[in-house]
Amino acid sequence: MMADVDWDALTAEAVTVMHRAYAPYSKFKVGVAGLMDDGRIVTGCNVENACYGVGLCAECGMVSNIHATGGGTLMAIACVDQHGDALMPCGRCRQLLWEHGRPTSLIRTPEGIMTLADILPQAFGPQDLIDRAEDRTHRG
Ligand code: THU
Repeated sequence: MMADVDWDALTAEAVTVMHRAYAPYSKFKVGVAGLMDDGRIVTGCNVENACYGVGLCAECGMVSNIHATGGGTLMAIACVDQHGDALMPCGRCRQLLWEHGRPTSLIRTPEGIMTLADILPQAFGPQDLIDRAEDRTHRG
């Protein structure tokens, strides 16, 4: 499956949505495209706000769109800047991607194709909530 990722096509989708970004304050347009486990591609762009701190990263929009279009799991991700070059997701967005992907999901970075586990080592995730629940029966 992963050998089949068409990175050029996925990046092209990210570039297309990057051009739709609403970034009048930073002038820094971002686009992201994710290949889902069912084969569909879901995209997102950053949307800023006059109240600067409430701006939304491109990844936030993509994650919302994932669920709005049926959910699923991210298998491959391309995030681009205004030049179409690979852009590393911010820390918060790495956490968002982690929740909706797998540790082995792939992402195109300036240093090549990497996994989500590579870019968010020792990630906190859903399993931590289960393992560390107050009512857990096995303590250790
Ligand atoms: N931005 C994203 O959309 N995703 C990232 O992972 C990094 C930053 C946006 C937020 C803001 O609108 C602009 O880039 C400049 O920080």
